[in-house]
Amino acid sequence: MKFFTEEHLELADAIIARYPKPRSAMIPLLHLAQEQAGWITDDAMAEIAELVGTSSAEVLGTCSFYEMFKRSPVGKYVINICTTMSCALLGAGELMEHAERRLGVRAGGTTEDGMFTIEGAECQAACTEAPCLQVNYRHRYRVTSDQFDSMIEELASTNHDVPDHGVLSRIRQHIPEDRFVGAVPPEDVVSSPAWMHDEKVD
Ligand code: FES
Repeated sequence: MKFFTEEHLELADAIIARYPKPRSAMIPLLHLAQEQAGWITDDAMAEIAELVGTSSAEVLGTCSFYEMFKRSPVGKYVINICTTMSCALLGAGELMEHAERRLGVRAGGTTEDGMFTIEGAECQAACTEAPCLQVNYRHRYRVTSDQFDSMIEELASTNHDVPDHGVLSRIRQHIPEDRFVGAVPPEDVVSSPAWMHDEKVD
Protein backbone atom coordinates (compact mmCIF):
# COMPACT_ATOMS: atom_id res chain seq x y z
CA MET A 1 0.00 0.00 0.00
CA LYS A 2 1.26 3.47 -0.91
CA PHE A 3 2.11 5.62 2.07
CA PHE A 4 3.31 9.06 0.98
CA THR A 5 0.85 11.62 -0.30
CA GLU A 6 1.49 13.00 -3.79
CA GLU A 7 2.90 16.18 -2.27
CA HIS A 8 5.24 14.28 0.03
CA LEU A 9 6.27 11.93 -2.73
CA GLU A 10 7.41 14.91 -4.79
CA LEU A 11 9.27 16.20 -1.78
CA ALA A 12 10.84 12.78 -1.21
CA ASP A 13 12.17 12.79 -4.78
CA ALA A 14 13.64 16.27 -4.25
CA ILE A 15 15.29 15.15 -1.01
CA ILE A 16 16.77 12.05 -2.64
CA ALA A 17 18.18 14.18 -5.48
CA ARG A 18 20.33 16.11 -3.00
CA TYR A 19 22.44 13.07 -2.16
CA PRO A 20 25.03 11.25 -4.27
CA LYS A 21 23.47 7.95 -3.13
CA PRO A 22 19.69 7.56 -2.58
CA ARG A 23 20.24 5.52 0.61
CA SER A 24 21.72 8.64 2.25
CA ALA A 25 18.23 10.16 2.16
CA MET A 26 16.82 7.48 4.45
CA ILE A 27 16.77 9.56 7.66
CA PRO A 28 15.25 12.71 6.08
CA LEU A 29 12.59 10.47 4.52
CA LEU A 30 11.85 8.89 7.90
CA HIS A 31 11.32 12.39 9.30
CA LEU A 32 9.01 13.15 6.38
CA ALA A 33 7.05 9.96 7.09
CA GLN A 34 6.77 10.85 10.76
CA GLU A 35 5.60 14.33 9.82
CA GLN A 36 2.84 12.80 7.70
CA ALA A 37 1.54 10.17 10.13
CA GLY A 38 2.92 11.22 13.53
CA TRP A 39 4.82 7.91 13.73
CA ILE A 40 6.61 5.47 11.40
CA THR A 41 4.28 2.86 9.96
CA ASP A 42 5.31 -0.38 8.23
CA ASP A 43 3.92 0.98 4.96
CA ALA A 44 6.12 4.05 5.33
CA MET A 45 9.25 1.94 5.84
CA ALA A 46 8.39 -0.26 2.85
CA GLU A 47 7.92 2.77 0.62
CA ILE A 48 11.10 4.46 1.82
CA ALA A 49 12.99 1.22 1.10
CA GLU A 50 11.60 1.21 -2.43
CA LEU A 51 12.45 4.89 -2.96
CA VAL A 52 16.06 4.61 -1.83
CA GLY A 53 16.71 1.14 -3.25
CA THR A 54 17.15 -0.92 -0.11
CA SER A 55 15.20 -3.40 2.02
CA SER A 56 12.50 -2.67 4.60
CA ALA A 57 14.73 -4.46 7.12
CA GLU A 58 17.49 -1.92 6.58
CA VAL A 59 15.06 0.98 6.98
CA LEU A 60 13.78 -0.65 10.18
CA GLY A 61 17.37 -1.05 11.38
CA THR A 62 17.97 2.69 10.96
CA CYS A 63 14.57 3.73 12.27
CA SER A 64 14.74 1.59 15.40
CA PHE A 65 18.20 2.97 16.30
CA TYR A 66 16.88 6.49 16.90
CA GLU A 67 14.57 7.18 19.81
CA MET A 68 12.99 10.13 18.01
CA PHE A 69 11.39 7.80 15.47
CA LYS A 70 8.29 6.25 16.98
CA ARG A 71 7.35 2.75 15.90
CA SER A 72 3.85 2.90 17.33
CA PRO A 73 1.26 5.67 17.57
CA VAL A 74 1.97 8.46 20.06
CA GLY A 75 0.01 11.45 21.22
CA LYS A 76 -0.42 14.62 19.22
CA TYR A 77 1.96 16.12 21.78
CA VAL A 78 4.89 14.08 23.09
CA ILE A 79 6.14 15.48 26.37
CA ASN A 80 9.69 14.44 27.23
CA ILE A 81 10.57 15.19 30.84
CA CYS A 82 14.31 15.25 31.40
CA THR A 83 15.29 12.84 34.18
CA THR A 84 19.08 13.28 34.06
CA MET A 85 21.18 14.61 36.95
CA SER A 86 20.59 18.39 37.05
CA CYS A 87 16.89 17.99 36.41
CA ALA A 88 16.65 15.06 38.83
CA LEU A 89 18.27 17.16 41.58
CA LEU A 90 15.86 20.02 40.92
CA GLY A 91 12.60 18.08 40.94
CA ALA A 92 12.24 16.09 37.71
CA GLY A 93 11.01 13.05 39.67
CA GLU A 94 8.27 15.08 41.35
CA LEU A 95 7.42 16.73 38.04
CA MET A 96 7.07 13.31 36.39
CA GLU A 97 4.82 12.06 39.20
CA HIS A 98 2.72 15.19 38.84
CA ALA A 99 2.50 14.73 35.04
CA GLU A 100 1.42 11.11 35.48
CA ARG A 101 -1.30 12.11 37.96
CA ARG A 102 -2.45 15.07 35.86
CA LEU A 103 -2.73 13.06 32.63
CA GLY A 104 -3.75 9.73 34.18
CA VAL A 105 -1.05 7.71 32.41
CA ARG A 106 2.34 6.36 33.43
CA ALA A 107 5.58 7.44 31.76
CA GLY A 108 5.63 5.91 28.29
CA GLY A 109 1.86 6.03 28.02
CA THR A 110 -0.58 8.02 25.92
CA THR A 111 -3.83 9.55 27.11
CA GLU A 112 -7.00 7.87 25.85
CA ASP A 113 -7.93 10.86 23.71
CA GLY A 114 -4.62 10.55 21.87
CA MET A 115 -3.56 14.06 22.85
CA PHE A 116 -0.56 13.48 25.13
CA THR A 117 2.28 11.00 25.52
CA ILE A 118 4.67 11.43 28.43
CA GLU A 119 8.17 10.02 28.47
CA GLY A 120 11.28 10.24 30.60
CA ALA A 121 14.22 11.55 28.58
CA GLU A 122 17.97 11.94 28.87
CA CYS A 123 19.69 15.33 29.21
CA GLN A 124 18.23 17.93 26.86
CA ALA A 125 21.28 20.21 27.01
CA ALA A 126 19.50 22.82 29.10
CA CYS A 127 20.88 21.78 32.50
CA THR A 128 20.99 25.36 33.86
CA GLU A 129 17.23 25.57 33.30
CA ALA A 130 16.30 22.46 35.27
CA PRO A 131 13.87 20.89 35.55
CA CYS A 132 13.05 21.08 31.92
CA LEU A 133 11.00 19.24 29.36
CA GLN A 134 10.26 19.29 25.67
CA VAL A 135 6.90 19.25 23.91
CA ASN A 136 7.36 17.80 20.44
CA TYR A 137 11.05 18.73 20.91
CA ARG A 138 10.34 22.39 21.83
CA HIS A 139 11.93 23.28 25.17
CA ARG A 140 10.13 24.48 28.30
CA TYR A 141 12.38 25.58 31.13
CA ARG A 142 12.25 25.49 34.97
CA VAL A 143 8.86 23.83 34.88
CA THR A 144 6.79 23.79 38.08
CA SER A 145 3.70 21.62 38.58
CA ASP A 146 1.46 24.65 38.08
CA GLN A 147 3.26 25.56 34.89
CA PHE A 148 2.87 21.98 33.70
CA ASP A 149 -0.90 22.20 34.24
CA SER A 150 -1.08 25.54 32.39
CA MET A 151 0.94 24.04 29.56
CA ILE A 152 -1.51 21.13 29.24
CA GLU A 153 -4.45 23.53 29.15
CA GLU A 154 -2.69 25.65 26.56
CA LEU A 155 -1.92 22.61 24.38
CA ALA A 156 -5.49 21.34 24.68
CA SER A 157 -6.69 24.70 23.35
CA THR A 158 -5.82 26.17 19.95
CA ASN A 159 -3.96 29.03 21.56
CA HIS A 160 -0.38 27.85 21.04
CA ASP A 161 2.17 27.41 18.30
CA VAL A 162 3.37 23.86 18.91
CA PRO A 163 2.84 21.79 15.75
CA ASP A 164 1.70 18.16 15.86
CA HIS A 165 4.21 15.43 16.66
CA GLY A 166 6.46 14.74 13.68
CA VAL A 167 6.59 18.31 12.39
CA LEU A 168 10.14 19.44 13.01
CA SER A 169 10.01 22.74 11.20
CA ARG A 170 7.34 24.96 9.75
CA ILE A 171 9.67 26.29 7.09
CA ARG A 172 10.69 23.79 4.45
CA GLN A 173 14.31 24.04 3.36
CA HIS A 174 14.65 24.90 -0.30
CA ILE A 175 18.05 24.64 -1.97
CA PRO A 176 18.14 26.01 -5.52
CA GLU A 177 19.96 23.73 -7.95
CA ASP A 178 22.78 26.24 -8.48
CA ARG A 179 23.50 26.08 -4.73
CA PHE A 180 23.83 22.28 -4.59
CA VAL A 181 27.12 21.30 -3.02
CA GLY A 182 27.82 18.77 -5.78
CA ALA A 183 28.71 15.86 -3.51
CA VAL A 184 29.78 12.68 -5.30
CA PRO A 185 30.00 9.11 -4.01
CA PRO A 186 33.38 8.33 -2.37
CA GLU A 187 34.31 5.87 -5.14
CA ASP A 188 33.93 8.66 -7.73
CA VAL A 189 36.33 11.04 -5.99
CA VAL A 190 39.37 11.44 -8.26
CA SER A 191 41.31 14.25 -6.62
CA SER A 192 42.03 15.56 -3.15
CA PRO A 193 39.51 18.01 -1.63
CA ALA A 194 39.62 21.64 -2.84
CA TRP A 195 40.60 22.91 0.61
CA MET A 196 43.89 21.01 0.39
CA HIS A 197 44.88 23.15 -2.60
CA ASP A 198 44.19 26.48 -0.88
CA GLU A 199 47.22 28.70 -0.74
CA LYS A 200 48.52 29.21 2.75
CA VAL A 201 48.43 32.78 4.04
CA ASP A 202 51.26 33.73 6.44
S1 FES B 1 20.07 17.27 33.07
FE1 FES B 1 18.16 17.97 32.31
S2 FES B 1 18.75 19.19 30.64
FE2 FES B 1 20.61 18.38 31.31
